[in-house]
Amino acid sequence: MYTLVLQHAAQVLTLAGADSHRPLAGADLGSWHIIENGYVACRGTQIAAVGPMSELDATQIDADTQLIDATGRVVMPGLVECHTHLVFGGNRAHEFERKLRGESYLDILASGGGILSTVRQTRAASEEELLANALHHLEGFGRYGVTTVEAKSGYGLDRDTELRLVRVARAAGRQQPLRVVPTFLGAHVVPPEFKAAGPRAYVDFILHDVLSDLKGEAAFVDIFCEEGAFPLDVSRYYLEQAHKMGFGLKIHAEQLHDLGGCEMAAALGATSVDHCDYLTPEAAARIAQQTEGRTVAVLLPLVPLFLRQEKYAPGRQFIDNGLPLALGTDFNPGSCPSKNLWLALSVACLKMGFTPKEAVAAATLNAAWALNLAPEIGSLEVGKRADVLVLNVGSVSEIPYWLGENPVREVIVGGQVLAT
Ligand code: NIG
Ligand code: FE
Repeated sequence: MYTLVLQHAAQVLTLAGADSHRPLAGADLGSWHIIENGYVACRGTQIAAVGPMSELDATQIDADTQLIDATGRVVMPGLVECHTHLVFGGNRAHEFERKLRGESYLDILASGGGILSTVRQTRAASEEELLANALHHLEGFGRYGVTTVEAKSGYGLDRDTELRLVRVARAAGRQQPLRVVPTFLGAHVVPPEFKAAGPRAYVDFILHDVLSDLKGEAAFVDIFCEEGAFPLDVSRYYLEQAHKMGFGLKIHAEQLHDLGGCEMAAALGATSVDHCDYLTPEAAARIAQQTEGRTVAVLLPLVPLFLRQEKYAPGRQFIDNGLPLALGTDFNPGSCPSKNLWLALSVACLKMGFTPKEAVAAATLNAAWALNLAPEIGSLEVGKRADVLVLNVGSVSEIPYWLGENPVREVIVGGQVLAT
């Protein structure tokens, strides 16, 4: 018997039927099929059937089946948020005004603020406080219909605090319904303690003294390859070593300058390369070709918006050049204090050239690929986890249209309706 059926949906965005070996790319990102007047049925934690209402098997419905009427509404997979810095202490509202007066992100960092300001606030926070903050933010993500959240460390920059941040992310994942995927970003910037010794000495410290304790705790290792953070050669060395230790790879690259970090990481087999505002369409085409469409570029459109940067990743050209794209918020206290992934979809359409359908695919199935979780989440397919949304809108084109609104009416995580 079905435990839950969402029925009479105006549109069911299944994202089903894609190649099961690689993310959606090129024309496939926006040309997937929509079921009109459809249903989604769940059994326990999993999706049991999806189709047009005419094919709903009534013999699988009994008095215990929970029915949700989705007449006039869109039903779609839960959003997958594949890039956040979830766990941190304090906030950086005080730097917002500096930014409004014209100071740049890297200038604020060079003056000891920025990421380093959050590092100080995070080191000073207790584990309980960090956990309470993370749970608060997860609740917010849940209200936006996000059902899986990647969570990077990176505001500790010493052994104990970095391990604490990963521990907090994992505990937060256990204490509420959303799935949390921890990523280790110990190589976020060089901490003050290693200022004299430099970036290479700091990553050697991480490789020798921290990473071995994270096996099985964090699936991915990430590094910020940027001026004022880690240069290309050190980033390559670090990712190569982490790869040998069995970690999946991610990189923050081409956010503020074109240093070649995305191509370097993709050549090492990175699962995702993130930011990419300064990545060229030509380099994007090379990455797509060399990785046979396996490395996903995660674009984060709210970051250039919040940093008052004119340059946005040329998403349209990336898509046309065959690079698989995902979208995220980059939620963090410095460059994106927003959990509104829907707003990121809108800005991706307005400033990066996505279509509404491409934006939806990038924040669901392709975002799942960016976490190596596509076999389990990201689409409405039989056997996948029953993470399903009912929206207050009737068509996919309305999703990015209502700028800044939260279109979510119901959130189902693992077959259970989330209380919001
Ligand atoms: O993804 N670019 C590096 N790290 C974060 C920002 C972190 C911060 O400013 O606190 C980012 O934008
Ligand atoms: Fe980030």
